Amino acid sequence: MERLQTQPKRASLRAMNAPRIAIFDSGVGGLTVASAVHARLPGANLRYLGDTARLPYGTKSAHTVTRYAVQAAEALLSDGAQVDALVVACNTASSCALPMLKERYDFPVLGVIGPGARRAVAASTSGHIGVIGTERTVQSGAYEQAIAALSPDAVVHSRATPLLVGLAEEGWFDGPVAEAALEAYLVPWLQDPAIARIDTVVLGCTHYPALKTVIGRVFERLLGHSVVLVDSAEAIAEELAERLPNPNSTANGAVELFATDALARFARVGGLFFPVDRANLALIDL
Ligand code: DGL
Repeated sequence: MERLQTQPKRASLRAMNAPRIAIFDSGVGGLTVASAVHARLPGANLRYLGDTARLPYGTKSAHTVTRYAVQAAEALLSDGAQVDALVVACNTASSCALPMLKERYDFPVLGVIGPGARRAVAASTSGHIGVIGTERTVQSGAYEQAIAALSPDAVVHSRATPLLVGLAEEGWFDGPVAEAALEAYLVPWLQDPAIARIDTVVLGCTHYPALKTVIGRVFERLLGHSVVLVDSAEAIAEELAERLPNPNSTANGAVELFATDALARFARVGGLFFPVDRANLALIDL
């Protein structure tokens, strides 16, 4: 693993006494989380790493995802950076690696599963909660466990919808292709009468908030009733605000961005989710 290099001008940008938050994801999708965190905590200094060289995590084994997640976290902290919290923006990494990361660091390490689960339980009245995410997230059963711990009677129905990641990366946030992909995943799934009782759906993948409108519309059309969409990005931003010192610092927070490959693509696709300033974007090798 190489140490952080070609660093953006951190010292000159840093807002003093503001919270320092490190965030990592398998790629650009976690910028939806960075965006929600920046909107909720505009004064916080954000340091983000997208592991674009090894994306996707969602099709890989739990062992590999955990190894990658630890390497990504270590790289973010490799220059001795002091952070107030580490956010695992990636649902897949959160579902596999959170216990190991929590054990490793003595500052708060937050994954997206818990905040998403809490919001879903609070929102559901039928007690039937849908989760859509990557194959690894769905196979991990992480949302089932988190929701069962909060509400033992809740029933969780999960469906892997991996193609939605590619759609978001293409910038196809809505339209006929997104509708067709969603119908292909959801029509057979929602034929089960128990699953058709869901009234709340967790967007269990970094990229899905970008497709929120079409996801809500297709669920409503297929079910005949609307569902509450739980955006894990907003949920974790809210949880951070509760847990951090000086969350309401008024200074403008600095943003440092790192990616493990393809900076131009990171800037182009990531820019769909969060403003990417090339001057603050650097390559890092894990
Ligand atoms: N960031 C991943 C997640 O939230 C989606 C992309 C991937 O598979 O790596 O699960």
